[in-house]
Amino acid sequence: MTKNNILSGTSIDIKAYWDTKYSENSTNWDIGSVSPPLKEYIDQINDKSMKILIPGAGNAYEAEYLFLKGFINVFVLDISTIAIESFKQRFPDFSEKQLLNQDFFSHNDTYDLIIEQTFFCAISPDDRANYVKKMHSLLKDNGKLVGVLFNHEFEKDGPPFGGSVKEYEDLFLPYFEFKTFEVSYNSIKPREKREHFINVKKKNNFPLSPYVYSV
Ligand SMILES: C[S@@+](CC[C@H](N)C(=O)[O-])C[C@H]1O[C@@H](n2cnc3c(N)ncnc32)[C@H](O)[C@@H]1O
Repeated sequence: MTKNNILSGTSIDIKAYWDTKYSENSTNWDIGSVSPPLKEYIDQINDKSMKILIPGAGNAYEAEYLFLKGFINVFVLDISTIAIESFKQRFPDFSEKQLLNQDFFSHNDTYDLIIEQTFFCAISPDDRANYVKKMHSLLKDNGKLVGVLFNHEFEKDGPPFGGSVKEYEDLFLPYFEFKTFEVSYNSIKPREKREHFINVKKKNNFPLSPYVYSV
């Protein structure tokens, strides 16, 4: 897939772009273990059969954490074949059917929970509205999107692409009910105060049919 604007104005193959990052070990976003805000969130979930998607999962430490805790319905999705293959090698017992080497925007299924960890900041800002709509369509009724989003702009054009609280509210509020949206108190040191914890619930009655507006 070729897409414009991932790196301001260039036209590149997104899969090749990310595969190259992994093959060159140029993965400075990778924190090497489950993100503490997500670990704390996962630790309070009792239902281990919950169907969970982790898009743009990369080395998928959140999936690893869930898997080792006994969650049985965890789906790992990434456009990079290298990232998916590497996860497969690390966890040969993880169901192959739950490893999805796909473009997030082409994926179709529904989940109880979707986990966001440095995926939103990796896509082009031009695709943010589509990301929100796609997340909405990938969630079951009352499903939740939970994770962390950078709450500041980066000096260099991304990825990672930064953002603001206002931008996120404008994007998500039409589609999601905000349960928590605040500066994350347990981010890793280099990201301290620079990310918001987001826990939003799908608004089931959105989008409204255009016919509701006709008299
Ligand atoms: C910044 S990395 C984050 C990886 C992982 N979440 C982490 O925190 O270590 C972004 C990931 O999103 C994946 N990605 C980018 N665009 C994608 C798309 N359209 N569909 C699926 N995965 C995508 C990349 O291959 C990469 O693994």
